[in-house]
Amino acid sequence: MGSFGYLIICVLALLSCTVNARPATFLQDFRATWSDSHIRQLEGGRAIQLVLDQNSGCGFASKYQYLFGRVSMKIKLVPGDSAGTVTAFYMNSDTDTIRDELDFEFLGNRSGQPYTVQTNVYAHGKGDREQRINLWFDPAADFHTYGILWNHARVVFYVDDVPIRVYKNNEARGIPFPKSQPMGVYSTLWEADDWATRGGLEKIDWSKAPFYAYYKDFDIEGCQMPGPSSCASNPSNWWEGTTHQQLSPVEARRYRWVRMNHMIYDYCTDKSRYPVTPPECMAGI
Ligand SMILES: *[C@@H]1O[C@H](CO)[C@@H](O)[C@H](O)[C@H]1NC(C)=O
Repeated sequence: MGSFGYLIICVLALLSCTVNARPATFLQDFRATWSDSHIRQLEGGRAIQLVLDQNSGCGFASKYQYLFGRVSMKIKLVPGDSAGTVTAFYMNSDTDTIRDELDFEFLGNRSGQPYTVQTNVYAHGKGDREQRINLWFDPAADFHTYGILWNHARVVFYVDDVPIRVYKNNEARGIPFPKSQPMGVYSTLWEADDWATRGGLEKIDWSKAPFYAYYKDFDIEGCQMPGPSSCASNPSNWWEGTTHQQLSPVEARRYRWVRMNHMIYDYCTDKSRYPVTPPECMAGI
């Protein structure tokens, strides 16, 4: 084979390498959905900066939807006085009345006060399953990995390697579980000082604007939709493996630690909202 043939093979190999390599560049997996002038690519597109100023926040979404898998990215949140800002990272089926959605929302705070992470789970259009934790580190000082694992058995929200929330598939008990609609991956940075920090008491300080959040190490592994329908039900997908059917003993210990030491709100124990405990809350981990 001549050198031209080798060149073709190299180019093909490089291409497939770029397409499959994880983490991906921003533009491989995502596109801007709101105010692309406020999304700046860094490090050759392997990282981005989101900007919130008085004109606008911004947002991005995955180019594809996915049915089961794991999504993660490293995020460095708005530092200093971030009260009134909200950074969200979530999956959403985009089907209004029967929406499935898995949410991380990072609620900013006044300097030196802890960020709150709120999670929520919508299944078949029903949400109102908020939980809140305070982070045990400063999420604006450094990048940390935030991830969602989603398989037929459960959804797990991870902060680094700590599971902070588990939503099990309890369909057998009549509790809805997201499993038939693919979801896209989304993120936004915006102002929500009517509710975000201390229930809206703390207002955003625009003299500190612009506010910046940073993202990198985009990793989506899952069944891309539209795509082969056999993918989602294939039990040999790694995210369906036995180690992902339940928390390992180490993970279970970390999960209990978070719930005992860092949980500040759980809809499951909010008697004023739910005089009758929602059924999924009885299911344990
Ligand atoms: C902000 O800090 C206060 C005081 O430490 C805390 O009560 C609150 O949960 C924190 N988070 C938000 C989003 O208000």
